[in-house]
Amino acid sequence: MLSWDDYTEQASPEPQPVPAAPESIAQAEQAPVAAQAAAPQTAAPEKPAAAPATTGTPIARAQAAVAAINPAAGLEELELGATRIQVDDKAMINCRADLNQLVPFKYDWAWQKYLDGCANHWMPQEVNMTADVALWKSNEGLTEDERRIVMRSLGYFSTADSLVANNLVLALYRLITNPECRQYILRQAFEEAIHTHAYQYCIESLSMDEGEVFNMYRELPSIASKATWSLNHTHALSDPTFNTGTPETDQELLRNLIAFYVVTEGIFFYCGFTQILSMGRRNKMTGVAEQFQYILRDESMHLNFGIDIINQIKLENPHLWTVEFQEEVTQMILEGTELEIHYARDSMPRGVLGMNAAMMEEYLHFIANRRLAQIGLPEQFEGAQNPFPWMSEIMDLRKEKNFFETRVIEYQTGGALNWD
Ligand SMILES: [Fe+2]
Ligand SMILES: [Fe+2]
Repeated sequence: MLSWDDYTEQASPEPQPVPAAPESIAQAEQAPVAAQAAAPQTAAPEKPAAAPATTGTPIARAQAAVAAINPAAGLEELELGATRIQVDDKAMINCRADLNQLVPFKYDWAWQKYLDGCANHWMPQEVNMTADVALWKSNEGLTEDERRIVMRSLGYFSTADSLVANNLVLALYRLITNPECRQYILRQAFEEAIHTHAYQYCIESLSMDEGEVFNMYRELPSIASKATWSLNHTHALSDPTFNTGTPETDQELLRNLIAFYVVTEGIFFYCGFTQILSMGRRNKMTGVAEQFQYILRDESMHLNFGIDIINQIKLENPHLWTVEFQEEVTQMILEGTELEIHYARDSMPRGVLGMNAAMMEEYLHFIANRRLAQIGLPEQFEGAQNPFPWMSEIMDLRKEKNFFETRVIEYQTGGALNWD
C-alpha cells in the first residue's frame, strides 16, 4: 500500500529548491483565476492597486499580495455580474462565452464520450507479457516477416501517439471553445499518454533496442513520411500567435482536425493495428495484441469524437465547407491512404499472417471511403470491400462481454492511500 511518504521519497529523491519568494508574489499578483473565483460573486468596490511588497517576511509578503488582489480588475476575464450562460451562448469555435463553466451542456455527445472514455480506463501493466517475452526470445518463435511487423508497428506507434498528444495539448485545445469538448480532449490526452506508455512497456518487456525503435520515425522512410505528414499539419496551429476567427484560419483549424482525427488516427493506425491483431488471432504475441486491442477501442472513440467535432463545426459554419475546401480535404484523405499503402508494402514485402500488401490496399481503400463518407464527402474507391471483417468486430469491443474478465488489477483510489 502506498503512503504519502513513499510517494514523496520516490518522486523527489533530491531536495527540490524552494522558489524565491519574490517570484511567488509576482505570480500571486497576476490574480490567479482560482483566487478570483473564490471572491464574492457581486460587484466589489474598487480598491486602489497596492504596490508589490518586496520587504518583510515571506508570510507578510504573501498577505500583502493577497490583500492587493482586486476582483474588479479581473472584470474583463470573469465578467462579474454578467448574465448567466445559456446553452445557446455556446459554440464549437470562436465562442466568447465563459469557458470555465462546464454546464449547461450543449453537446451531450461530447460529455457522454468523456464518461465512456473514463469507464474504459485501463493500464498497460494489467496485460501479461510473459508468453510474448518467451516467444520473442525464442529462435523459432516468429518468422523474420513477423518480427519485422512487430518492430515496424512499435516503431511507428511509439512516437505517433506523442505527435497526437502534442497536437491536442499544444495546438488544438485552446482553439476548441467549448468546455464539454475540452473535457473529452483532456481525457483523450491522458489516453494518448497511456498508449505511449503501452508501447514503451512492450518495447521494454521484449528488451528491444529502444534507440532503434523510438528513432524509426526519423530514420525509416515509410514511417518518417507518415510522421512528417502529420507534423506538417500541426505547425500552423502550434504557433502561439495563431487564432481562429477568419474563414481562412477557421479552415486551417479544420485541416488540423482532419489531418489528426481522420487521417492520423483514422487511417495511419489501421495497417499496424490489423497486422498485430491478426498475429494475436493466431496466438502469437498475445500480450502485445491485447495492448493493441485496448488501444484500438480508445482510438475508435477518438476518431468518432473528431468526426463529430468536424461535422458540428461544418454545421455551425457552413461557409467554411466550400467546394474548393472539400476537394482539398478529399486530397488530404487520399494522400493519407497512399502513405499507409506504402507503409503496408514496406512492412509486408511478402504474404504473412494470412494477409498481404494487396489485401491491405483494398482494406485501406475501404477505410478511406468510410472516412470520406463520415464527413460528408463522396467515396473515391468504387466497390472497395473489407477483406478483414473481423477487425470491425474487434473494434466494437462492447460486444465482447468477457473483455474485462482478464483484469487482475484494482485501481488504487484516494480512499486506499495510507494517511497515517
Ligand atoms: Fe492513441
Ligand atoms: Fe488517439
